[in-house]
Amino acid sequence: MKITFVTSNTGKLKEVKDKLEPLGIEVVGDKVYYPEIQTDSLREVARYGAQWLKNRLEAPFILDDSGLFLSALEGFPGVYSAYAYGTIGNRGILNLMNKKGDKRAEFRTAAALVDPNEKIHIFEGVCKGSVIGEERGKNGFGYDPVFIPEGYEITFGEMSTEEKNKISHRSLAFHEVYEYIKEHFSVEFDIS
Ligand code: IMP
Repeated sequence: MKITFVTSNTGKLKEVKDKLEPLGIEVVGDKVYYPEIQTDSLREVARYGAQWLKNRLEAPFILDDSGLFLSALEGFPGVYSAYAYGTIGNRGILNLMNKKGDKRAEFRTAAALVDPNEKIHIFEGVCKGSVIGEERGKNGFGYDPVFIPEGYEITFGEMSTEEKNKISHRSLAFHEVYEYIKEHFSVEFDIS
């Protein structure tokens, strides 16, 4: 089957394609605009975006809202990750974290799936790790070069998409999306 993934981020699109296509789901990127509301929950940002797009885009489709949550900064940048990345960037995050002893960080993704009946389902994924003191690696995108996942010694920026997809927040959320599609779509919507 074929599903639309709404994103203007080519890094996200590559990860989701690499995740779902070997499982038999063709992923087509669509850069259509949707508003990202300000709230303290990724789920609500994703749900609102999906709700807004429902009347404008043919279902089924998926979108994701993600962020980096730093313990020492009480969760910042979190839901403000896109704004923080666009303004202070990785350098700014490194400066803010410079004198902090607690380097714990986690990436979170909330993926919204709009099914063929236009019902919205939200799936979440979390990847725990820490932020390091410098940027390392040229792969991935966004905060990848400053984040080391738990149990690893290299950053997401030093991993291939395949490696990142074994453990990432997005991969976990989209695995749930896959499981849902596999279980429900052929039965309820006759799509396989
Ligand atoms: P959004 O989900 O597109 O709103 O992303 C928020 C911000 O977090 C953007 O600046 C992204 O570049 C960044 N971001 C989202 N997902 C990831 C990821 O998997 N790795 C690194 N940065 C990410």
